[in-house]
Amino acid sequence: MAIAEIIQRNVGGTLIAIELEKPYPENYQQTVQQVVKENETGYLPPLKTKIDSMQNYDVVFLGFPTWDMQMPPPMKSFLHQYNLSGKTIIPFNTNAGYGVGSGFQTVKELCAGSKILEGFETKGGLERDGVYFVIKDERAKEAEAEVKKWLQKIKVME
Ligand SMILES: Cc1cc2nc3c(=O)[nH]c(=O)nc-3n(C[C@H](O)[C@H](O)[C@H](O)COP(=O)(O)O)c2cc1C
Repeated sequence: MAIAEIIQRNVGGTLIAIELEKPYPENYQQTVQQVVKENETGYLPPLKTKIDSMQNYDVVFLGFPTWDMQMPPPMKSFLHQYNLSGKTIIPFNTNAGYGVGSGFQTVKELCAGSKILEGFETKGGLERDGVYFVIKDERAKEAEAEVKKWLQKIKVME
């Protein structure tokens, strides 16, 4: 969300968070185990978030963290549920330092009819002892500089 807000500050747009009907457990390890299982079976968790104005958007920034070195199941649900063909998709990713994994490749596979611009990945909030840290202070400034450089490179910002 921190990166999404930086993007919005610089290029505008509407922020939408993808939420599940049944949120993941509070416990980090339990969530990791559940996600690994969902990835193995290809389970697509039902979304609480409903977007009925998708046709109004030509450009969609698609942000997700790396989970199990992949795109998280809720984003897979989203891309299966909504048809983004004909739109420009701009993916971005946060991870704990291991990179995006197969996430951007999965964007290509699930958005075959879309124009996909070069994605951005950065180290995001970290999990330590089961506690989440968010991007803030010095790290937020650093992240903002990285994001701006990318937005200029892909020519969505001057
Ligand atoms: C279920 C789960 C699985 C994760 N798996 C990975 C992983 O495989 N590789 C990695 O670099 N980070 C992994 N992480 C760490 C997240 O990618 C990292 O904390 C991310 O920056 C969180 O972003 P957010 O603050 O936008 O949720 C995982 C986190 C969770 C909750």
